[in-house]
Amino acid sequence: NYYCVIMAGGIGSRFWPISTTKFPKQFHDILGTGKTLIQQTFERISKIILKENIFVITNKEYVGLTLSQLPDISIDQIIGEPKMMNTAACNIYMAEKIHKLNPDASIIVAPSDHLIINEGQFINYVLTALKQANHENILVTLGIAPTRPDTGYGYIEYAKEAKEGLYQVKSFKEKPNLETAKEFLKSKNFLWNSGIFIWSSQSILSSYQKYLPDMYQTFESVIPEYNTDKESNAVEKIYSNIEKISIDYGILEKSDNVWVIPSTFGWSDLGTWSALYENFNKNEEGNAVHGNNIYTYDTSNTIIKTDLSNKIYIIDGLTDFIIVDTSEALLVCPRNNDQKIKDYLENIKKLE
Ligand code: GDD
Ligand code: MG
Repeated sequence: NYYCVIMAGGIGSRFWPISTTKFPKQFHDILGTGKTLIQQTFERISKIILKENIFVITNKEYVGLTLSQLPDISIDQIIGEPKMMNTAACNIYMAEKIHKLNPDASIIVAPSDHLIINEGQFINYVLTALKQANHENILVTLGIAPTRPDTGYGYIEYAKEAKEGLYQVKSFKEKPNLETAKEFLKSKNFLWNSGIFIWSSQSILSSYQKYLPDMYQTFESVIPEYNTDKESNAVEKIYSNIEKISIDYGILEKSDNVWVIPSTFGWSDLGTWSALYENFNKNEEGNAVHGNNIYTYDTSNTIIKTDLSNKIYIIDGLTDFIIVDTSEALLVCPRNNDQKIKDYLENIKKLE
């Protein structure tokens, strides 16, 4: 009765210019391990869930890319969305589809762009959560002890007593501002939301019914079409007219039956250049250098990454910077500003 949904429809915009709309970060071997992030995710999940019960939901544009990177699953297990409508939409869609296949399904929802170092631990937490989610009407997330006031995460305040390894969530705040994030970090009562969720199809569907009723009705209305030839037409229509919201804002912030497992499994959301910097090998000056013909002077704690081998780079006098060069774009910005990359791209769109 266990299923997995791998969410792989994001464009990783904070990770531009390596991650682009044509080739988002989950399809890159970002850390140079020989496997792309989605391949690593799939391998990890297939240690817990039968391969035929693993679904990938992504933009229809990336279905071919997904299939080429995951030759072990069939095309029916890769679901193409007509439009990027954020994670509330893709999760109700998959919950409806899986619920129709098996009304007793328990689902683990996994992002496709995370680093998890200790797989054994990860598997233990997920199995604990799956067991509970199977017979209780709860939504479970894996929580991570925060190490910095990062505004790119959801923050979970949780109760002190555990029930079968699970702690009830008192409040959930998605992407707080810096001031609030600093308070949360200081108070020590908060965990980061890892974005890895475990629930039964029944529990998540009733949460949508309660907190996003319009979206729920729309997806319910085409139940007969799921898993038939008519599905993609029906879904195409739905997607032209639904709310664009993440599941964190749409469901988890509002719900009163969220539970968390405080987890340690060497987790990192490789969401930003700074997160990546922590995972890169660095030289004596603290520079993470990826590429050839790069000469640095008086430069430290800087990421320097280039795909181009026919260019010479001389970098003098920079500390805590990000320098990324590809054949399409050059980014130079302070490491502290890496959350702004999204805004830079929005501005380009406006000017175009
Ligand atoms: N299918 C599909 N469709 N997938 C999507 C879409 C979409 O429209 N949008 C995003 N995704 C995928 C991304 O590819 C990623 O794997 C996952 O969903 C999460 O989306 P992100 O855009 O990376 O979310 P985030 O990092 O800003 O925030 C989430 O993750 C944090 C931890 O990494 C939230 O859950 C936070 O609360 C959490 O702390
Ligand atoms: Mg992310």
